[in-house]
Amino acid sequence: MQQRYTYTAMLFHWLIALLVVAAFTLGLVMTDIPGLTPTKLRYFSWHKWLGVTVLLLAVLRVLWRLFHPSPAYPASMARWQQSAANGLHFLLYVLIFAVPLSGYFYSLASGVPVVYLGLFELPVLFKASTELKPVLKAVHFWLNMLLAGSVGIHVAGALKHQLVDRDGVLRRMLP
Ligand code: HEM
Repeated sequence: MQQRYTYTAMLFHWLIALLVVAAFTLGLVMTDIPGLTPTKLRYFSWHKWLGVTVLLLAVLRVLWRLFHPSPAYPASMARWQQSAANGLHFLLYVLIFAVPLSGYFYSLASGVPVVYLGLFELPVLFKASTELKPVLKAVHFWLNMLLAGSVGIHVAGALKHQLVDRDGVLRRMLP
């Protein structure tokens, strides 16, 4: 019988996954709306709140993870596959910080303060900048493309374990 992830690990995993997918989809939808409409502005706020929530959960998750190692991979998994999985998981951890941070910095460079849930203003770490604004916009976009690609490989790997290898790796992350 394989060791499973704990319920705390599953909660962090699925909650962050859900919020990332929601923020990503809303990001694409809102930037597609032409002009400046009230709906667009509302979507921008929701997008930022979702993203900041991901950042907060990412901090909690990494702090928790430092003291709670993951269960070992099944012995049937080749060494290179274990290393590839570890590398991809590390990249995903980096991206759940880098993507929201780049969005936050982009907002600051645009001169728009970020007010989480309409209640708490995040620190204005630097002044609006016409030079930084396009750079950070591109950084936010391309980090998102890297995130989408990494999540795609992560999901494909999980499905291969389930359907081809049938080694129970996906089930370890399911309640
Ligand atoms: C998990 C977190 C996040 C994800 C997955 C995400 C995803 C995206 C995506 C896919 C876009 C559309 C990019 C494009 O087509 O140009 C976008 C745009 C944007 N995001 Fe995020 N984002 C996240 C967090 C944040 C945060 C925390 C903020 C600010 C506090 C933010 C601010 C923005 C802004 C202002 C835009 C509009 C860019 C423009 O003007 O075209 N994002 N985001």
